[in-house]
Amino acid sequence: MNFKIKTLNLKNRIFLAPMERINDIAFRILCKKAGCGLTYTGMINPQTKQKIYLNDKPALQLFCTSNKCIKNFIIKYDSQVSLWDFNLGCPAKTAKKHCFGSFLKDLKIIEDILKTIRENTKKPVTIKIRKSPIAFNLLELAEKYCDAICIHPRTYGQGYSGKPDIDFAKKIKSRTKLPIIYSGDVNEKNCKYFLETFDYVMIGREAIGRPEIFSKIMGTKFEKSFEEYLNLAKKYQIPFRQIKLQASNFTKGVKNSAKIRDKIARIKNIKELERIMT
Ligand SMILES: Cc1cc2nc3c(=O)[nH]c(=O)nc-3n(C[C@H](O)[C@H](O)[C@H](O)COP(=O)(O)O)c2cc1C
Repeated sequence: MNFKIKTLNLKNRIFLAPMERINDIAFRILCKKAGCGLTYTGMINPQTKQKIYLNDKPALQLFCTSNKCIKNFIIKYDSQVSLWDFNLGCPAKTAKKHCFGSFLKDLKIIEDILKTIRENTKKPVTIKIRKSPIAFNLLELAEKYCDAICIHPRTYGQGYSGKPDIDFAKKIKSRTKLPIIYSGDVNEKNCKYFLETFDYVMIGREAIGRPEIFSKIMGTKFEKSFEEYLNLAKKYQIPFRQIKLQASNFTKGVKNSAKIRDKIARIKNIKELERIMT
């Protein structure tokens, strides 16, 4: 079956949630190979000077505090992304300090940002929000400028703990015709329920170190291999500290994983890592 958000064709309704420090291009490629319908970058500031690898055509998530710099960034990268998402949910201290993510609450500024994104792309545009007093105002803006809305129904105060308020996400769904992408505690066991309740789902923490979760849900064949991650990481010049982090994540569920992680933490180069992991 084929699914569609605006002009974007999707092979299924199960996405990899945007995760900063996790979703490097090598990891995204593995998730896609395992059967994931759409992968996201972590949040990216359009003013970044860092090189961005988008050869896998992911959904790109932006964060910023004003519409400054957005236009040029979109023009530069538009052909390399599948969808543009705007982050209105980040609960981190830096988000509070600089007033972005869930701390960006000025509806006029948010509207300027969404308008700028909308005017500069024909790709689908989405926002990712949390449960908040302005969630329905954001829904109104999404209806004006976006093609879908993603809801992670925890408050910023909850961060990533406590229960997501699924009823709140249902309320959002009941008030709009926009497709709803649900995020929050989705795993291989409950995925079916969320797919019956919402249009799309995102998997975040359950996919960390476990790209195979998508193959388990989709019933596709996929052999997880850190060697494959490593080869991609070399190809895309992923920094060594990031490769080490993924190596640790990949030990999830492996026998003696605490010991292996301890070894990984002390490793100084790729050769040593290859010896332990492959
Ligand atoms: C390590 C980590 C990094 C994250 N980075 C982002 C991010 O860059 N942008 C974003 O919108 N959400 C981010 N999130 C939130 C996830 O996208 C997701 O909404 C949240 O973790 C709930 O889903 P889960 O229970 O499946 O993990 C992050 C979460 C984690 C654990």
